[in-house]
Amino acid sequence: MWTPLLTVVCLSLCACQEDESLIVKGGSAIVGGKIQLDCWSKAPQNTVRILTWQNQAKQVLFFNNKTVTQDSRFKLVSWQSHRSIISIQKLKAEDHGNYTCIDYKSQPPLIRSASVNVWVPPSQPVVSGPEKPIRENESMELLCTSKPGRPAATIYWINDERQLRNETTHVYMNGMVGSSVRILVDRRDDGRHATCVVNHITGVLRTNWTLLVEYPPELEISKVDGSSEGEELKYECRAKGRPRPSPPRWFRDDKSFSNFSTMSNYLVLSNLSMSNTGLYVCISRNGLGETRATLNVSASDFPRVVETTSEVSTPSYKWPLVAGALIIFLIILIVISIATNHYLKTRKGNYETNEGHYEPHEEKTEILINNGDTAQQHNDSLA
Ligand SMILES: *[C@@H]1O[C@H](CO)[C@@H](O)[C@H](O)[C@H]1NC(C)=O
Ligand SMILES: *[C@@H]1O[C@H](CO)[C@@H](O)[C@H](O)[C@H]1NC(C)=O
Ligand SMILES: *[C@@H]1O[C@H](CO)[C@@H](O)[C@H](O)[C@H]1NC(C)=O
Ligand SMILES: *[C@@H]1O[C@H](CO)[C@@H](O)[C@H](O)[C@H]1NC(C)=O
Ligand SMILES: *[C@@H]1O[C@H](CO)[C@@H](O)[C@H](O)[C@H]1NC(C)=O
Ligand SMILES: *[C@@H]1O[C@H](CO)[C@@H](O)[C@H](O)[C@H]1NC(C)=O
Ligand SMILES: *[C@@H]1O[C@H](CO)[C@@H](O)[C@H](O)[C@H]1NC(C)=O
Ligand SMILES: *[C@@H]1O[C@H](CO)[C@@H](O)[C@H](O)[C@H]1NC(C)=O
Repeated sequence: MWTPLLTVVCLSLCACQEDESLIVKGGSAIVGGKIQLDCWSKAPQNTVRILTWQNQAKQVLFFNNKTVTQDSRFKLVSWQSHRSIISIQKLKAEDHGNYTCIDYKSQPPLIRSASVNVWVPPSQPVVSGPEKPIRENESMELLCTSKPGRPAATIYWINDERQLRNETTHVYMNGMVGSSVRILVDRRDDGRHATCVVNHITGVLRTNWTLLVEYPPELEISKVDGSSEGEELKYECRAKGRPRPSPPRWFRDDKSFSNFSTMSNYLVLSNLSMSNTGLYVCISRNGLGETRATLNVSASDFPRVVETTSEVSTPSYKWPLVAGALIIFLIILIVISIATNHYLKTRKGNYETNEGHYEPHEEKTEILINNGDTAQQHNDSLA
């Protein structure tokens, strides 16, 4: 079934090539690279052709073995009466296009075009997203932009090597391309990367964005290996969370560090006895809540942990409200008292100034009186 089809294809190809009396070959290369263009005539080799190369703007580059162009990046690699090979070095983006080889010896002239593909690498993708960490179970939008190059690169987001859905692609006026993605995050995403990938024929570019997710402390209680030997039992309580949780602390029956030693986040039960049985609680908090994990050291299968449970209590928002109202009330009170005080002070100040004015007067009067007295006395003595 395939053989006739292949024969037909082959026949048509061969027929086509036989027919073609002028053949060209273009090429592809990255900016800065080098490319070779080939043009040859299938006409009997002893017939001399006139082969001319023109660039994509129809300017003559080569006429037979004569170099017409001033641009030294264009070189005649080899020339024979029926074949011309040229090269373009240090390729520029604008060299891209269809170059033509013309055989003027034919009537009418034969014109063939050879494509020059100049690949332009895309720009390193730039990622923008929320400036602050976002809460667990909320969604965030990330935007990735890149100059897509030529041929246009594909741009997409991945997370754990999986392509993210819910992407929107934007094309901007300045030729930039963007891809935005909305991600619903949970605590396991904290610290992970979402990666913007720009995939191009010349290579793959990636830019990471670190997801910062806020969640209340998550506690993990684990027995420290080898600690059950001898008379000591040691447990470690570890806290994860964002913002960074307070160092985990152990409590027994809700009372702070009773008869066991604490080594930061370690619970060390030494000289084990029945008195050690009971509930030990590990507590850590951050701005999003307080988490308690309970360790049940029971008598039945002492000294093994029976269960650990965790519960999260988010801070109540009533108290901050009440406290806020109280603070505002206090501020108003303070302002009123300061204002009243100031008003009274100003009034009193006025009195004081008046008194200040009067005082020297009184002194003066006294002095005058005294003087009068002395004068009187003087007069008396005189008299
Ligand atoms: C081009 O070819 C002609 C004849 O084949 C020859 O005389 C001439 O020197 C050549 N010119 C160059 C620049 O090679
Ligand atoms: C080159 O020519 C082909 C067909 O002849 C055309 O499809 C293509 O767009 C041309 N390329 C450029 C860059 O003009
Ligand atoms: C987010 O959702 C999960 C699953 O519904 C829940 O367990 C967790 O407590 C939620 N986190 C917050 C901060 O509300
Ligand atoms: C994609 O977006 C739609 C609507 O915005 C939403 O319902 C859906 O859950 C999202 N899917 C994912 C995988 O985030
Ligand atoms: C980007 O994220 C990926 C996936 O998490 C990671 O493998 C890679 O090392 C990160 N690259 C950089 C530069 O951080
Ligand atoms: C702590 O130990 C002392 C003596 O070792 C004991 O009297 C006391 O009852 C213990 N307290 C608790 C809370 O176990
Ligand atoms: C444990 O018991 C031994 C003797 O029974 C005693 O010497 C030691 O001080 C005790 N250690 C603690 C931490 O109570
Ligand atoms: C602790 O474990 C023991 C033994 O399994 C059980 O009887 C007791 O109810 C547990 N205590 C709590 C508070 O869960």
